[in-house]
Amino acid sequence: MSREPAGGELPIASHDDVVRVRQLARSLAAAAGMSLVDQTKIVTAASELARNTLVYGGGGTARVERVERPSPRAGARAGVRIVFSDDGPGIPDVDQALAEGWTSGGGLGLGLPGARRLVDEFDLDTEPGRGTTVTVTKWCR
Ligand SMILES: Nc1ncnc2c1ncn2[C@@H]1O[C@H](COP(=O)(O)OP(=O)(O)OP(=O)(O)O)[C@@H](O)[C@H]1O
Ligand SMILES: [Mg+2]
Repeated sequence: MSREPAGGELPIASHDDVVRVRQLARSLAAAAGMSLVDQTKIVTAASELARNTLVYGGGGTARVERVERPSPRAGARAGVRIVFSDDGPGIPDVDQALAEGWTSGGGLGLGLPGARRLVDEFDLDTEPGRGTTVTVTKWCR
């Protein structure tokens, strides 16, 4: 039996769900051995992306998981990956959405560009009318 927290897929349908996504991201990052600073970075990114899933995507899911990548020098290197998915309206202009200060809804327009800066890998996949998937990964260093 392991005492490591299990990853999993969480619904995002309320602000309480956003809090739960933050908490799971925090506990997996801590269990992976991530520094406190990097834990806070992935948790902050998760918070912004979960909020976007809720507000603009009309709700969706977050799959939070521990990942490993082979490293020739120091053995496997652990990280945390989170995949946010919704079946909402999608993002018509991705470059615009990723630009600092652009918002369609009266926010600050800092969530997406901020999240992108805080993680090591960032992928935004969206299609108007079909939905949006954002995948972020943070590695222990
Ligand atoms: N999941 C999504 N589905 C549809 N549109 C999205 C989604 N996520 C982001 N967007 C669009 O991208 C824009 C920019 O998002 P971003 O998080 O950067 O800013 P914001 O949410 O408007 O403001 P802030 O996050 O600073 O409060 C949003 O205003 C919205 O139009
Ligand atoms: Mg936002």
